[in-house]
Formats: sequence, C-alpha cells, structure tokens
Amino acid sequence: MIPERVTLVEVGPRDGLQNEALPVAAAHKVELVHRLQNAGLREIEVTSYVSPKWVPQMADNAQVMAAITRQPGVRYSVLVPNMLGLHAALAGGAATRPDEVVVFGAATQAFSRRNINCSIEESIERFAPVVAAAREAGLKVRAAISCALGCPYQGEVSADEVEHLVKLFKAIGVHHCGVADTIGVGTPRRVQAAMERALKHYPLHEVSGHFHDTYGQALANIHACLEMGVHTFDTSVAGLGGCPFAKGATGNVATEDVVFMLRGMDVETGVDLDALVESGGFISDVLGRAPVSRAGKALLIKRGRVFA
Ligand code: HMG
Ligand code: MG
Repeated sequence: MIPERVTLVEVGPRDGLQNEALPVAAAHKVELVHRLQNAGLREIEVTSYVSPKWVPQMADNAQVMAAITRQPGVRYSVLVPNMLGLHAALAGGAATRPDEVVVFGAATQAFSRRNINCSIEESIERFAPVVAAAREAGLKVRAAISCALGCPYQGEVSADEVEHLVKLFKAIGVHHCGVADTIGVGTPRRVQAAMERALKHYPLHEVSGHFHDTYGQALANIHACLEMGVHTFDTSVAGLGGCPFAKGATGNVATEDVVFMLRGMDVETGVDLDALVESGGFISDVLGRAPVSRAGKALLIKRGRVFA
C-alpha cells in the first residue's frame, strides 16, 4: 500500500552545494534554507562539519547554522564524520546546534577510503563515540549508507554488503538508516532488495531512500520504495548535488519532481509546490544555470521564465 503521507528531507543546502566548484556565499545558503522552510519542508540538511580541506564549500558551516532563523517544527541536520565534527557542531551552543546529526559510511571499502579516508571497520570505530555523544546530547542520529546500489571504484554492490553496514550502524545505536545510491545506478527491483535489508533491522519510519538521479532512475526507485511502504526520502531542490568523491555522480532527485509526482498521486508532503519551485529558481539563479529539476524548470517556464 502506498503511504498517504511522505516526509521529504531536503538535502540541497548540503549535498547540493557541497559539490559546487565556485564558492556560494553563506548568505545565499541561509536564504535558501529560509525559502525551503517557508515552502513547508520540515527536515533540512543544512551543512556538514567535515574537513575544509576535503570539502571547502562547507567551511562556513557554523556561520550558516548561526544565521538561520529557525522555525518551530523544522528539524535541522548536519553531517559529522568524527568527534571533531560533532564537537564543532555543538561548540556554538544553542545558536548553532543541530537537531540531528548524520554519520556517513559506505557499503564498500573502496568508497569508504576515498570519502572518509578509512576502512568500513575504522569508520564504525570513529562513529561509535560520535553516536553515543550525540544521543547523550539529545540529538537524533541518522546514518547514510553510501554506494548501496553501486560503487564508482568497486562496481556492483550486493545486498549482503548493504546489510553488513546496516547491522553495524544498528549495533552502535544509530536511530535511522538511509540507503543511498550515490552514483544513481540503482533500478527498482535492486533498490527494493537493498531496502529489504535495511527493513530487517529498522522499522519503516526509520528507513529512508537517498537517490542520486545520474541515470534517470530516481523517481522509479522512489516509487518502488513507496510500494514497500517506505515514506521518507532525501531530495534536493533544483536537483542540486553530487559527491566530490564520486566523479560523474550528478544531483539528487529533485524535490520539485518528487513533490509533483506525489501530488499527482494524492500523497501528502506538506510542501507548497509553487514556493518550492521559486526556491529552485532562486538557487539556480545564484548558481547561474537552469534548474536540473524537470518539473521545476517546466513550471518556471510556464510562469514566463526564459532559460538559455
Ligand atoms: P583525515 O585526513 O583522515 O582526518 O580525514 P584526520 O583525523 O587525519 O585529520 C586531518 C586534518 O583534518 C586535521 O587538520 C584535522 O584537524 C582535520 P590539520 O591538522 O591537517 O590541519 N579534520 C577536520 N576538520 C574539520 N572538521 C572535521 C575534521 N576532521 C579532521 N570534522 C575526514 C577524515 C573524514 C575528516 C575527511 O576525509 C573528510 O572530511 N571527508 C569529507 C567527506 C565528505 O564530506 N564527503 C561528502 C559528504 S558524504 C556524501 O555526499 C554522501 C551522501 O550524500 C550519501 C550518498 O549520496 O551516498 C551522504
Ligand atoms: Mg548524496
């Protein structure tokens, strides 16, 4: 049965902007978050506390967190790869404190090394104290399983490899498990097989899908997850995104496209499509290009916008 309501976790400010070659001003990132929350998004992944040498775009993490005018009922999350990241995320006190942190591991050793410079086992050793301290601080902890459907270095990835990491995350106390198709190669049946492994260890409401749309499969994959009752998905306004350590990976599935599809299916998201489309237009203008979102672009053109 298709869920009646779906929660969208907007990852554009983080997953989207981390991949931009040119700097994006903190003020524009803050404006984007404001527009997204005004459009009704209730979960927003704002930034990451990672090494600025590895990901320069996220170096303004604390500045962005401090400048957001928070709306009650919105959950603001940040990525943290280690204790240094968690301490930095908590250092500013209430003004910059996230509601949720995301630890991110990979289903393959090769991607783990390229992305966070350690093996899967070492990553879990690093994450364990982060998860414990975050829980102690009253934060929700989400995990992302990168390369759950394919790896740019290893190639194919099995459902067993996915389940191995799911179990490790569960064992260290992670609340929520996200299955991520970093390079967008997953197709519906394979996505269902990976999701099934997450659902063996986590309840439906603590499992989500994170689908990059590199091969145009993301909406079909979301639909395949809906058929299983999965009702939480990461999406990215204007289809922004990619991972600096997965060459050629394009953006996440666009929030506008997902909202358009779900609206057509009478599935509630709480998101105002018009305001969302304007948010996509805003950030695309900042970046100097048309939105990757098909629905977003079509709706903007309908409103008279012209794209080169
Ligand atoms: P490392 O070099 O192994 O770390 O990097 P280290 O502990 O040896 O420290 C080296 C230097 O980094 C030191 O500075 C540390 O202070 C600094 P130095 O003494 O050289 O000046 N450092 C930090 N600085 C700021 N914040 C920190 C931090 N930690 C160490 N938290 C590390 C390990 C994980 C830090 C590094 O590999 C890194 O930052 N990687 C970034 C990975 C990343 O952000 N990837 C993109 C996000 S994941 C993603 O997009 C996938 C996802 O969307 C799901 C999907 O689609 O698959 C979530
Ligand atoms: Mg991603």
